[in-house]
Amino acid sequence: MRRLNNCIEGKKYDGYPIWFMRQAGRYLPEFRKIRRNNPNFVNLCLNENLSSEISLQPLKRYDLDAAIIFSDILMIPYGLGQGLEFKKNFGPKLNNLNLNNILNLDKSVFIKNVNPIYNAIKILNKKINKKKSLIGFAGSPWTLLVYMLNKESPKNNINVNKITKDKHLIKKLLKKLEEIICTHLEKQIESGANVIQLFDSWAGILPKKDLYEYCYIPNLKIVEYIKSKKVPIICFPRGIGKNYIDFCSFVKPNCISIDYDINPKKIKKELGGIAIQGGMDPKKLLLDKSIIKKTVEKYLDIFSDYPYVFNLGHGVLPNTNPETIDYVIKIIRERKK
Ligand code: CP3
Repeated sequence: MRRLNNCIEGKKYDGYPIWFMRQAGRYLPEFRKIRRNNPNFVNLCLNENLSSEISLQPLKRYDLDAAIIFSDILMIPYGLGQGLEFKKNFGPKLNNLNLNNILNLDKSVFIKNVNPIYNAIKILNKKINKKKSLIGFAGSPWTLLVYMLNKESPKNNINVNKITKDKHLIKKLLKKLEEIICTHLEKQIESGANVIQLFDSWAGILPKKDLYEYCYIPNLKIVEYIKSKKVPIICFPRGIGKNYIDFCSFVKPNCISIDYDINPKKIKKELGGIAIQGGMDPKKLLLDKSIIKKTVEKYLDIFSDYPYVFNLGHGVLPNTNPETIDYVIKIIRERKK
């Protein structure tokens, strides 16, 4: 019985499935140790022995319901031939995009370029307890396009109008990304991933008039493709606020991951059935235990009669104390549903 799969596939399960976005990452000393010896983040993602080991690190420490493959959404631009580097205290830096090369790239070349990711999933699939889910993931077309054209995180600087100005280019690039994302996810499923999460981390910078074309429709195409493979899919259109409901009625994912700006009570009432994941502000994990307990219990109370996956509203922050994650899990496991 995989608790996470059962919860989001509408089957019987007990308690609350738990996993954390960025559960393998810089807040763990055992990750930082590997990272110190591997200053090139892209090469680390392409080292199947190390990336599978990193994915297992949080499962060795904590009572979690899922492993997520240690990789990055930007491995797609990398696999398409766009140079990528992760700079300390800056984040990702991408080279100029050569549109023709990317549009003409055959998917077999892409697969070859990122093949260690699939090997890492095969290794993980052999090593994890069969009661745990194995999550594969990708960025959504819009979010990948933003990084590919902006060449660095929109957190540093972004001009959305500049990005969306050349409609012809955007259309072609989104279509290519859609195809490659489907290929990448299909390969992850073939290698053993049994849940997929799709990150549209920068959906929130789109004006409402562009949401259908650049966010909902591309997400829907990928959701339909993954559903045809009989694997459940979680969508995370971060930052779209009250449009979350519209997104769900159009895209119909198996589960929707909410960010911390979303009112959990309200969305539960309006969603009517689709499983919900996450919500808690990761910054709360940096505060007093009493506040952490109160916040975790708020989410458990609201979702006590609803299919709910415990997670945060975004990734675990690097300055989180690893013991806090244990504390949160204990609170959840003590609750019977
Ligand atoms: O544990 C997991 O969640 C799996 C691994 C994972 C990583 N990135 C590892 C990583 C996943 C699922 C991602 C997704 C990802 N990557 C997203 C979508 C989720 C989100 O955060 O909105 C995005 C936008 C990226 C792009 C990215 N990767 C940025 C902007 C950065 C730099 C800023 C930061 O958060 O560090 C990364 C680097 C990255 N990806 C790290 C990790 C563990 C830190 C790398 C380091 O050790 O320096």
